Amino acid sequence: VARLLSSGPLSGVRAVVTAGPTREPLDPVRFLTNRSSGKQGYAVAAALRDLGASVTLISGPTSLAAPAGVQRIDIETAQQMLDASLAAAAQADVFVAAAAVADYKAAQIAGQKIKKNDAELSLALARTEDVLARVRAAFPQLFLVGFAAETEKLEEHARGKLARKGLDLIAANWVGEGKAFDQEHNSLQVFGKDGSVHAIESASKAEVARRLAALIAERLPRI
Ligand code: CTP
Ligand code: CA
Repeated sequence: VARLLSSGPLSGVRAVVTAGPTREPLDPVRFLTNRSSGKQGYAVAAALRDLGASVTLISGPTSLAAPAGVQRIDIETAQQMLDASLAAAAQADVFVAAAAVADYKAAQIAGQKIKKNDAELSLALARTEDVLARVRAAFPQLFLVGFAAETEKLEEHARGKLARKGLDLIAANWVGEGKAFDQEHNSLQVFGKDGSVHAIESASKAEVARRLAALIAERLPRI
């Protein structure tokens, strides 16, 4: 196996993958989070490893084991994911953001458990940082791949994110009504900054990840 790995198309390439949800605490016992099993991101980490890359996986809380040979860094909040991502990206050639990062966190984390009363409860929320956009700003040369899970206007939203975040590729998929979440299968439409589009038809998340990794290997500028 070691021989196969070291001779793969991504041998010598250092990749960072973010995966899973983030958790934003509201008080000592509660948090805000996103639906994400982490499966697709973990599969991408394993597929990049199988092509010979050395892979760092920055993961929110999931029930998954780290893929063999992949270095996993466990984080909880979006801020922790940002700090770990900026540190890891400094040594990387490719950065793939598969994480479902919370867009909002508590404006103020309550020091004690919030007690219920008979009235409505309003929470003040503040924006989290955009990990991908910050990584792009810090590392203009890095090959950056984002994901976009959409319930409507897939191509329009995905292309908007591709441009706004300065990505090289964005892998978009439909979510909702039993699609993608906690499912074994997935399908992706991959849009490139050059205007290209590449369909990855419905397959296991492992197979979808292999095809995405192959696309990354094909597109990655090599020295
Ligand atoms: N992302 C990120 N940091 C965030 C939010 C998103 O790095 N704070 C990354 C995700 O990992 C994904 C891509 O950006 O690769 C798109 O995430 P998405 O939630 O679809 O996009 P947003 O820009 O947050 O837009 P919205 O949620 O409004 O659709
Ligand atoms: Ca979001």
